[in-house]
Amino acid sequence: MLETSRLVLRSWEDSDREPFRRMNADPRVMEYFAAPLWPAESDAMIQRIQSHMDRHGFGFFAAALRDTGELIGMVGMSHVPFEAHFTPCVEIGWRIAAAYWNRGFATEGARECLRYAREVLGLAEVVAFTVPGNLRSRRVMEKLGMTRNPEDDFEHPRLPEGHPLRRHVLYRTRLLQSQ
Ligand SMILES: CC(C)(COP(=O)(O)OP(=O)(O)OC[C@H]1O[C@@H](n2cnc3c(N)ncnc32)[C@H](O)[C@@H]1OP(=O)(O)O)[C@@H](O)C(=O)NCCC(=O)NCCS
Repeated sequence: MLETSRLVLRSWEDSDREPFRRMNADPRVMEYFAAPLWPAESDAMIQRIQSHMDRHGFGFFAAALRDTGELIGMVGMSHVPFEAHFTPCVEIGWRIAAAYWNRGFATEGARECLRYAREVLGLAEVVAFTVPGNLRSRRVMEKLGMTRNPEDDFEHPRLPEGHPLRRHVLYRTRLLQSQ
């Protein structure tokens, strides 16, 4: 479990299913994904994420408010589950319920994850990616000090050719100085 001034980043619990379903069904939250998720898809996502956490000791953590315990989204890291020119590597990512946007939660949680990646996991580099139009997410990447080289942009292999969301921008952050 990781903590920031306002957030707890932790393993997933049964009580997270309902608020996670609501968030994943919200078209605002899912604007830059292929489609909103059905409840069963959202539950399956929790299961996939939790298996990754059990196996690797980190993953996309459940993000809850420290004060109230309310689940407001997920923030964390994951091994990239597809092949691309920048894999194998670990990505950092975030999804926050719309009612909590623009209050710095994604950035706050992600900063703590990057500290953990550097100090505990000893990762040399972490990447993040999204579609070019997802300016909110790109802003979080920039606030974290991540940088984009347009030559790293790529076509997401999990989406069919011609899909409007296939083009992705890649941001990187180096965590360890090379020896
Ligand atoms: C991306 C997301 C996680 C950001 O969460 P958040 O907690 O609001 O993030 P923060 O408050 O830390 O930062 C958001 C930044 O985006 C900026 N922003 C908001 N709307 C924007 C827009 N339309 N264009 C450009 N920047 C925008 C905010 O002003 C803020 O930057 P600032 O601190 O410089 O003012 C949230 O919008 C979300 O869940 N979106 C849907 C899911 C998603 O796209 N996840 C990422 C997939 S790669």
